[in-house]
Amino acid sequence: MPQLVAPDARVHTSFLAAMAEFTAEGRGGARDDSMVGRDLRTWSDRWQDPAVFAEYVAGQRAAAEPDGPRPHGFVPCTNLWWTEGDVYLARIAVRHRLNDFLREYGGHIGYDVRPSARRRGHATAMLRAALPATAALGIDQALITCDTTNTASRKVIEACGGVFEDERGGKLRYWVPTAPAPSRP
Ligand SMILES: CC(C)(COP(=O)(O)OP(=O)(O)OC[C@H]1O[C@@H](n2cnc3c(N)ncnc32)[C@H](O)[C@@H]1OP(=O)(O)O)[C@@H](O)C(=O)NCCC(=O)NCCS
Repeated sequence: MPQLVAPDARVHTSFLAAMAEFTAEGRGGARDDSMVGRDLRTWSDRWQDPAVFAEYVAGQRAAAEPDGPRPHGFVPCTNLWWTEGDVYLARIAVRHRLNDFLREYGGHIGYDVRPSARRRGHATAMLRAALPATAALGIDQALITCDTTNTASRKVIEACGGVFEDERGGKLRYWVPTAPAPSRP
């Protein structure tokens, strides 16, 4: 059973293979502003070295700290990895609050499943598994957005209870309750 874990250097080999898959599908170019894209640009020429990877993992964890180092305009963010044993499958990021950009486009939560693990239900299971951690951050309704053309992500969000609000700038915006609905008496 895959599990949601804090970023962990144990999956180094598998993580590198996953990032090679993202690169092969064109991620990491100058216009890729996603989490994976930024990390590929910043780290991919160095994170083969276990010491550098440990530094990367530490940074992934530290992103959740209120006063941790982060790029200008970024809010604290809990990064979690979806793994099975030593196999890295996917990642999910939960931003602790919305700023103007996140409220319009980015949302509270972003995720990426490695190409070779797609269409097996991982994104749906991972988002569902991340909702209690999101609730624990005091977020009752998580804003999750996806491109209007991203059918897979739209289905993931809707399967996790997403309620459509509107479309802005090519993004569909959904609010996902982070706690299960109370059962009726
Ligand atoms: C979007 C993404 C996270 C989906 O991950 P996944 O693990 O393949 O998703 P799931 O297996 O949980 O599939 C969810 C649903 O989408 C469908 N789906 C998956 N890939 C699809 C595709 N390429 N086209 C159409 N439907 C697709 C599945 O069949 C499933 O539908 P169902 O609920 O009717 O059975 C993954 O494709 C990905 O990482 N893409 C690149 C990054 C990205 O788009 N991230 C999200 C940004 S908002």
